[in-house]
Amino acid sequence: MLRVAVVGSGPSGCYTAQSLVQQDPDVLVDVLDRLPCPYGLVRYGVAPDHEKIKSLQTTLRTILEHERVRFLGGVGIGPGGVPAARLRELYHAVVYCVGAATDRHLGIPGEELPGSWSATEFVSWYSAHPDSAADGFVAGARSAVVIGVGNVAVDVARMLARGVSELSPTDIPHPALTALAASRVTEVHMVGRRGPSQARFTTKELRELGSLPDTEVAVRQEELARDPACLDPSALAAPQRRNVEVLRGWAAAEPRQSAHRISLRFFLRPVELLADKGRVGAVRFERTVPDGRGGVRGTGEFEDIEAQLVLRSVGYRGMPVEGLPFDPESGTVPHVDGRVLHAGSAVPGEYVAGWIKRGPTGVIGTNRPDAKETVGSLLADAPTLVHKDLREDPLVALRAAGVEPVEWAGWCAIERAEAELGKSLGRGVVKLPDWRSLMNAVNGQVR
Ligand SMILES: Cc1cc2nc3c(=O)[nH]c(=O)nc-3n(C[C@H](O)[C@H](O)[C@H](O)COP(=O)(O)OP(=O)(O)OC[C@H]3O[C@@H](n4cnc5c(N)ncnc54)[C@H](O)[C@@H]3O)c2cc1C
Ligand SMILES: NC(=O)c1ccc[n+]([C@@H]2O[C@H](COP(=O)([O-])OP(=O)(O)OC[C@H]3O[C@@H](n4cnc5c(N)ncnc54)[C@H](OP(=O)(O)O)[C@@H]3O)[C@@H](O)[C@H]2O)c1
Repeated sequence: MLRVAVVGSGPSGCYTAQSLVQQDPDVLVDVLDRLPCPYGLVRYGVAPDHEKIKSLQTTLRTILEHERVRFLGGVGIGPGGVPAARLRELYHAVVYCVGAATDRHLGIPGEELPGSWSATEFVSWYSAHPDSAADGFVAGARSAVVIGVGNVAVDVARMLARGVSELSPTDIPHPALTALAASRVTEVHMVGRRGPSQARFTTKELRELGSLPDTEVAVRQEELARDPACLDPSALAAPQRRNVEVLRGWAAAEPRQSAHRISLRFFLRPVELLADKGRVGAVRFERTVPDGRGGVRGTGEFEDIEAQLVLRSVGYRGMPVEGLPFDPESGTVPHVDGRVLHAGSAVPGEYVAGWIKRGPTGVIGTNRPDAKETVGSLLADAPTLVHKDLREDPLVALRAAGVEPVEWAGWCAIERAEAELGKSLGRGVVKLPDWRSLMNAVNGQVR
């Protein structure tokens, strides 16, 4: 009987577990996560106002409740947690589905000024990630600059423009709701270094900006005109063409008075964050023009955009995994069809799936075929893997080593505590925002 450890309970971990139990009638799967809560970025990334996407947790739940799948939360693998080598002793195979936990850097002066944050930090805060220590994002800010034009940039720009009545029914943690309710941010500038036809956001997410209550979306005709593809969008692929059509509609609209304005700006490359009284006061951009090869070149003209809050939304980045090779360029683990490559050779027994395998791109559903490919490799190797004689129950071995995993019942206790907290606040389910309250819930106390 094959025993597999899946490290990470985000979409790729859950889909790996699902694919394993669907294809092998005997396999036993433990899904381990460093957090006491499952679902990875579905819980700690997908924006709170995207309730429909968040409801995917119900599907992932049925996977983790499968009779041959066991969730073991609060078990970090690697430094400070369970050594990767020990995990290899306890299981026939280990699949790393650890995602891409950190953010990319701009590498420009002023990036570390107070008031400048990565979108990752902002997202972790409004998603109640227990490691989120930051606070005070919107305090004292009137104007915000979001650097980058991907879907995460759209998420954070939208969250800054949402009113309290729209956020209150969501599971956003109460301190974040209170801070956003008091926010005086009225201007949000979302800025791309290339042209509108090269923006990475998807049309559904882009359009949603136009449906926000009391919010104007502003686009400049002259910036659309600078992009040759916008002059004749018929040559563009359908997703980019639809984006350009939406942007053109906004550029043609009459300006109107509203509580919030989201300005979508293009052909501006960030070069420096400028200080004002010890914090960020503006972002200096260099205007760019298309270089004819899909990139841009600088023009030597500069524009400063006022901002007391800067969110750098320029992509996520994978972190090295203990005992595995790592490609620092792509932030991924080298592999062939999900089999980890050690010094160029695939070693049966270690696998990757999800963002740590292919980099930080793609929606939740992309992780399903990705996990299936990895499971195909693992099951092809199974005849050699099952020869390993496993004598210890991993749960007993972990406990003997002083690790006390949060089992499914512990997670259910967190869910109950979040429902209780919401009730006490006159809201629906409200997320617990810190380690202490999560572990109190696991240990039987409500808060
Ligand atoms: C801000 C944001 C919003 C998004 N919104 C959407 C959306 O609305 N719709 C959509 O389709 N897609 C969305 N995506 C994309 C989607 O979330 C990803 O495709 C998906 O989560 C990647 O899955 P994953 O399992 O590889 O990684 P993750 O979801 O990041 O899961 C990794 C898991 O591994 C655990 N882990 C990490 N290191 C260790 C360790 N050492 N030991 C044990 N456990 C560990 C983590 O705690 C985490 O639970 C969003 C992405 C981001 C960043
Ligand atoms: N609702 C949803 O479905 C949803 C929500 C959130 C996230 N996601 C998915 O999650 C993945 C990650 O999203 P993401 O927004 O983090 O990443 P992304 O789609 O890769 O977008 C990153 C953005 O940062 C810009 N950028 C990178 N380096 C830069 C630099 N040095 N200076 C200025 N700009 C820079 C990129 O511009 P260039 O193109 O010029 O490099 C791009 O606009 C995506 O696949 C996304 O679709 C989906």
